[in-house]
Amino acid sequence: MTELADQRCQLPNWRDRMMSADAAAALIDDGMVVGMSGFTRAGEAKEVPLALARRAERDPLKITLMTGASLGNDIDGILSDAHVLARRMPFQVDRSLRAAINAGEVMFTDQHLSETVELLRNKQLGKLDVAVIEAAAITADGGIVPTASVGNSASFAILADKVIVELNLATPEAMIGLHDIYIPGMRPNRQPIPVTAPDSRIGTPHIPLDPDKIAAIVLTHGHDSPSTVNPPNDATRRIAGHLIEFFENEVREERLTPSLLPLQAGIGSMANAVMHGLMEGPFEGLTMYSEVLQDSTFDLLDSGKMTFASGSSITLSSSCGQRVWNHLERYKDRIVLRPQELSNHPGIVRRLGVIAINTALEIDIYGNVNSTHVNGTHMMNGIGGSGDFARNGQLSIFITTATAKDGDLSSVVPFASHVDHTEHDVDIVVTEHGLADLRGLAPRERARCIIGNCADPYYRPALAAYFEEACSRGGHTPHCLERALAWHATARRDGSMRAVVEAVSAPATELTPDI
Ligand code: COA
Repeated sequence: MTELADQRCQLPNWRDRMMSADAAAALIDDGMVVGMSGFTRAGEAKEVPLALARRAERDPLKITLMTGASLGNDIDGILSDAHVLARRMPFQVDRSLRAAINAGEVMFTDQHLSETVELLRNKQLGKLDVAVIEAAAITADGGIVPTASVGNSASFAILADKVIVELNLATPEAMIGLHDIYIPGMRPNRQPIPVTAPDSRIGTPHIPLDPDKIAAIVLTHGHDSPSTVNPPNDATRRIAGHLIEFFENEVREERLTPSLLPLQAGIGSMANAVMHGLMEGPFEGLTMYSEVLQDSTFDLLDSGKMTFASGSSITLSSSCGQRVWNHLERYKDRIVLRPQELSNHPGIVRRLGVIAINTALEIDIYGNVNSTHVNGTHMMNGIGGSGDFARNGQLSIFITTATAKDGDLSSVVPFASHVDHTEHDVDIVVTEHGLADLRGLAPRERARCIIGNCADPYYRPALAAYFEEACSRGGHTPHCLERALAWHATARRDGSMRAVVEAVSAPATELTPDI
């Protein structure tokens, strides 16, 4: 172990800074702002956060915690249960933390993932006191080689007053050279960011850092949590099928080539199923410019359908993880990990013409998308990177099953109870029932298309009845304002929207998608 640590840590006299996780956690004081590595359960600092939670049991303290995105190994839940978190940003997926956020105990700032360090750098989020970063190696001049994610780690390390490095000796050595670290210059003199293709490499393989800022080095051996993506089921396969058919038609119409354009896919079972669906289509030379590289990315690389994938993290199931981490060399010239402000950079996303595929909780009849708030009030996870891509991609696609909770909730509603993506940023909506191509359509046309193609047949007549009555009252985007949120009020009362359907007395007109 000593030999391995000496290989991975080239910093002279590094042992002078080596300490236990408990000693390193003691460098964090009550009220501090702390930035930690970690993005979609990949590459999080694993020991110091746990030491902080232990310490809080004896000696209560509260911090503001910023990360790249969600943390693995239940760290968000453990910190939340230990009441360490006063404020958390920019994303989370943990059940306990979610409950604390919705109880108003933790102040959660739900942010576009590309923006956090930009705000920090411009002093709009205050000062960062400490960064805790997981590393695969430390260079002789203090440079930090990240692990399975870059996330916000580079800017956290550069902007923090002091840096605690968790040197994880269980990470494969082949991680060295996987990353491309580039930090945009300060405004108003920022230069163009020279990423012109998913495989552009524009920075350094490590985070450049003043070695004097490294206040502690903690040796660790932990592993990232495996992803919990469910295999494709009938509904997600049908969603994938509709989308593949759409892409095939775009190729036939010469709006896309068989290599499509760089793909971005959100996290979760649905997005993973769609990406798997691409294995079956007539596509070749595919690329990704996305945040998270998941199982489907490596399946596409292995099949030869995909040639290159750029992301900010690698989050895999345990079986795919064994395949990839034990043979990382095989993939190294076909993948790159970047800071999330670059993987999600609006300018680059628009330059490359990314095809953005993200998931909605609900979509209204005009195409406004709610990705975050159940019933308009209760936070699920956060907007994540979906807004970075949806606003700026060449094609902005939202997928969802047409109902949730065994059919009790319609995912197509008259009025979105919370809006993350406005109708202006939504080109295509797909459910298991079909696809609505909204490009160039006006609101009344969009409503017909979404209700007719995407809504669940059980809820379709009630949506059609709402729309028709709204149209009779006039307007560019017609609504019955007093009933616009009646579906959600019913869901809050009954846990189900079924009473809304039952209340539609006359058999409603079938709305055929005439678009
Ligand atoms: N109303 C209430 N709950 C709903 C719902 C709705 N309309 N639609 C889905 N849900 C619930 C599901 O029942 C499920 O609940 P459970 O965890 O208690 O079983 C949960 O939301 C997740 O839904 P699921 O169908 O399993 O889809 P998913 O795992 O693909 O997650 C999102 C869907 C929207 C929650 C998820 O994609 C997300 O957080 N997106 C926002 C961030 C993002 O887009 N990131 C992409 C770039 S990283």
